[in-house]
Amino acid sequence: MAKKNDDFFKVKKPWSEVKDELLGCYLKPYIQKILHTQRPIIYVDCFAGKGKFEDGKPGSPLIALNTIQGCLGYTKMNDWNIKPFFIDVNYADDLRTNLTEYGEVGIISGRYEDEIEKLLSDKSGCNVFLYIDPYGIKALNYGLFQSFSTRYKFNSIELLINMNSFGFIREGCRVLGVPFEDASIFEDLIEYESTKLEANEKSVNVLNNIAGGDYWQEIIKAKNRNEISVYEAEAQFAEQYCDRLRQNFKYVLNMPLKIKRGQLPKYRMIHATNHVDGCLLMVDNICCRWQLMKDIQDGGQMQLWEENYNNDMVDEEDIRKKVVEHVSGYFSFCRLNIVLADFFMKYGPICKASVVKSVYKDLEDQGMLEVQRTPAYTKGGKPSSFFADEKKQRTEIRWHS
Ligand SMILES: C[S@@+](CC[C@H](N)C(=O)[O-])C[C@H]1O[C@@H](n2cnc3c(N)ncnc32)[C@H](O)[C@@H]1O
Repeated sequence: MAKKNDDFFKVKKPWSEVKDELLGCYLKPYIQKILHTQRPIIYVDCFAGKGKFEDGKPGSPLIALNTIQGCLGYTKMNDWNIKPFFIDVNYADDLRTNLTEYGEVGIISGRYEDEIEKLLSDKSGCNVFLYIDPYGIKALNYGLFQSFSTRYKFNSIELLINMNSFGFIREGCRVLGVPFEDASIFEDLIEYESTKLEANEKSVNVLNNIAGGDYWQEIIKAKNRNEISVYEAEAQFAEQYCDRLRQNFKYVLNMPLKIKRGQLPKYRMIHATNHVDGCLLMVDNICCRWQLMKDIQDGGQMQLWEENYNNDMVDEEDIRKKVVEHVSGYFSFCRLNIVLADFFMKYGPICKASVVKSVYKDLEDQGMLEVQRTPAYTKGGKPSSFFADEKKQRTEIRWHS
């Protein structure tokens, strides 16, 4: 069901809380880490909204600015350089009012698709983070994501995208003339300013540009032949969209936000980065935010079994099986964090990184995994036993063949 966008900012909805927590809780460790590159950080909220909701709750701009201020309060570095920018086509004046106390922030009145390249064109060598939270799908031109990854030579580039994959499937059905389920099934999936395309060739191209290819058409056709349900169509689209992003970004994760168990996701939060640490931070972040999402789904009721971010039952044996299956493919030593991130690329953020590490530790104890640690000994002269891969502690692992 589509709604007028004026309502969006009246009261902050529970799903917006999850979305914003995912952003805020990621930004803190991201900034702390990336400050050490000593390159400027360019943070852009590409669909910023008003800054805060009418019920007084912070919107994504205030969340980001408070997080940035918090990080700068802690850091011992004094030559930091973080520039936040906020783009909105409707609410630049509200942003100016709501963000006054934060000093120098860039507020851009206009459309993301018209403004973003102008803003980023002189930012080569910088660390760029883009938060992309539109109402619908129309502004999500894949070609821009491709340019960000190849054209501008940033020091690093990360995207956090709110993708309305259900909206994409609905429009895919419309433009290919495939019947879509009775809209009443999706009453709870209230959408603001949903995208509506005509059934013609031009719209097919619009969707090709959003998806970064025409792979979505085969999914819609399979749905039309009743080979897959609308739920499977949405999941397949999300998976293939992430695969498409992986052609430009090494690590891509996605978290479906479902208001009710068994329902289509309201949207998917997709994170794309080339940095292994960013990927691992986001895995743990998704696992932590999932608790809040679950509370919303369950309305405070206890669930008898543990579930993961995708509402699948957590089965420790199954996780262990997957960890062994994956790590047993490494016959040469490889950095721990790379093995971990590749695990999550294969299976999704099914558990925290610490859970996978504890299986590695077990495998090491059983002599099935070889581990090289630097430094190899503690200051007291004992063999190191850490499972960390950071600046001062480096770990490499390989399967014991
Ligand atoms: C979902 S809301 C963003 C909410 C915000 N992230 C928050 O948490 O407070 C989407 C925003 O995008 C703006 N918008 C719509 N089309 C746009 C475009 N093409 N470029 C930039 N902003 C746009 C709308 O005015 C609206 O404020």
